[in-house]
Amino acid sequence: MSDNTRTATAFANSNIAFIKYWGNRDAALRLPVNGSISMNLGGLYTRTTVSFEPSLPMDELVINGSEIMGKALERVSAILNVVRQSAGIALRAEVLSENNFPTGAGIASSAAAFAALALAAARAAGLTWNESAISRLARIGSGSASRSVPAGFVEWKMGSGNEDSYAVSIAPPGHWPLADCIAIVADGHKSTGSTEGHALAPTSPLQAARVADAPRRLEICRRAIAERDFSSLADIIQLDSDMMHAVMMTSQPALFYWKPATLAVMGNVRTWQRDGLPAAYTIDAGPNVHVICPHSEMSKIAALLRKISGVSDVLTATVGGAAHPL
Ligand code: DP6
Repeated sequence: MSDNTRTATAFANSNIAFIKYWGNRDAALRLPVNGSISMNLGGLYTRTTVSFEPSLPMDELVINGSEIMGKALERVSAILNVVRQSAGIALRAEVLSENNFPTGAGIASSAAAFAALALAAARAAGLTWNESAISRLARIGSGSASRSVPAGFVEWKMGSGNEDSYAVSIAPPGHWPLADCIAIVADGHKSTGSTEGHALAPTSPLQAARVADAPRRLEICRRAIAERDFSSLADIIQLDSDMMHAVMMTSQPALFYWKPATLAVMGNVRTWQRDGLPAAYTIDAGPNVHVICPHSEMSKIAALLRKISGVSDVLTATVGGAAHPL
């Protein structure tokens, strides 16, 4: 590293959406067709160091010790280009990123990764941007990453354009001690990624209905969080997840993310609910099932999930804080 190297490190947690982002009105800027609400996942994180170095001929990306090229590097360079332009610098950067999720567990890492990248890149370039500006920058890398910037329970407003489409905290982590038990479902196949999936959303005849009803679901979710009303939260996050998967299954081509074990977990969660155990499922663009519960029930639910055939592992997370520099 030369003396002119400008470097910064940042940390960000992953998040799980309660009301999902699915479909863009502007794919390049990642402006969504509906707002979304999520909870940061404390304990599932990415740590990223960005170093702008005079000696580098091009941007470099290393994730968990492996050098990455192609599409992933292009996505990272797109963020670095915004930062270079804003800061008036031309230097290429080395990006070293590590996440602590077991690789191959099918846990999407783009949310934590782009949140940490946006913060580290802005700071390395000397930009003193506020949280909203970092969230907006992270959004351009991955929509859900905008939500990993603020703390705790977070809402990403769809906004009217690039300037006002960013995420804000609607409640701090300590507001409601919830947990996420992630049932990992064994799956050899690589499924269609979110970016391709968002592009297919408008081909489903159900997407218009899902989007039209989004303000209602967002309001119910906001109120459930504000009032710590678990039963209302459970109903709305399951409905929202089922509606997104209905859109996925009816897109052209169709996207089926569920495996038999995915359905087995969903069925078990519904049975537990009838038996009075507070738990609710939500599923992203993959077969794993996130089971949201009060923190007091986390160990019990994780143990129950481990007994279900087809569940290979269970990861647990608590409500996480904001992305921050290290
Ligand atoms: C199903 O944020 O991963 O997890 O913007 O293309 O990176 P890109 O998509 P991404 O989409 C997330 C989709 C989801 C729902 C959600 O997290 O809101």
